[in-house]
Amino acid sequence: MKRGPTGEKNEAVSAAAPERISVSGPPHESTAWVGVGLLERAAEYLRSPSGRFLLAAPPAARAAAAAVRRALGTAVLAEIAIDDAESAKTLASAERVADAALAAGTRRDDAFVAVGGGVVTDLVGFVAAILFRGVAWNAVPTTTAGMADAAIGGKTGVNHRLGKNLLGAFHPPGAILVDPRALATLPERDFRAGLVEAYKDAWIGDPALAARAGARLSDVLERDEGALLELLAGSVRVKAAVVLSDPKEGGRRRILNFGHTLGHALEAAGGFGALRHGEAVAWGIAAAVEISRRRAGLSASDADAVRRVLAGLGPFPEPERDPRRLREYLARDKKTTARGLASVLLDRIGSAIVDETVPLEEWLEAARIMSLS
Ligand code: GLY
Repeated sequence: MKRGPTGEKNEAVSAAAPERISVSGPPHESTAWVGVGLLERAAEYLRSPSGRFLLAAPPAARAAAAAVRRALGTAVLAEIAIDDAESAKTLASAERVADAALAAGTRRDDAFVAVGGGVVTDLVGFVAAILFRGVAWNAVPTTTAGMADAAIGGKTGVNHRLGKNLLGAFHPPGAILVDPRALATLPERDFRAGLVEAYKDAWIGDPALAARAGARLSDVLERDEGALLELLAGSVRVKAAVVLSDPKEGGRRRILNFGHTLGHALEAAGGFGALRHGEAVAWGIAAAVEISRRRAGLSASDADAVRRVLAGLGPFPEPERDPRRLREYLARDKKTTARGLASVLLDRIGSAIVDETVPLEEWLEAARIMSLS
């Protein structure tokens, strides 16, 4: 049974106060609020030193943006339309957003509110980082990928013709509103792909969450608000704890890239757009599970539990498996250091390690045999 926003169960969920999760401390405090019905109460949580906001959103996030606009009322200084295509996440788009903000008379004590998916929060967060050398901003993610990953942790940026996110800055949003109701119009394929990142957080950092959210997979897929809230809040908690321990990715933050070593290569080798980011990460996790079994002592039952959830989130399109193509992209991975590829492995569900000794050939072999069924 699908429980809609007016269902009895959901009314009980919305009565609860939102959970407050700290993602970074002073001087750039960043707080995630996770709860049902937050958009209507956005004015209580969004932050702006001047009390004025620039609301930036793409057409796909129209309903969520309208709810935020109603909540902010006359505090909205201007609305800025954003193109949320991955191909539009460019320096030229950043300049257009800055042009619109300057034309509206933005001052350095005003704040942006970015409503949308990862492209929108990355782009608007990047403009906030460079406009007047840094203004405040807030994130209202409207995708599962944005809620579990992109909007949390202060990474902002745009793409360069030589690669994704090559131009960017760490500039955390003051507030992030994670409201499952903002997912109401998200297409099914994007909804499922983004959930891969949410389950990934559970697998790297919270075994109890992984067990509960694994058992409630069918409720999550039915968009039951209680099940979604539990998974998303748990995922934000894991990511926030990792980011707090290593805000600028000097070491431990790399565990958030579980499934991404091969995932990025699959995404690029297939031509961006063939696979959603989360779908590529799902395949990357399937390969990382194989390597984790051999190298990190991951048990067969833990490996099966991860595969079962990935299979339930899919089926995902077949990825590129040609080792010649994958080799090229794996060798260019931005996380590679002088020591080698930073491979994230699981030794058990809830515990991840970074291993810099896994040869590239082993990833190619895992890509050849990986399976999601
Ligand atoms: N998406 C990985 C991170 O935020 O570090």
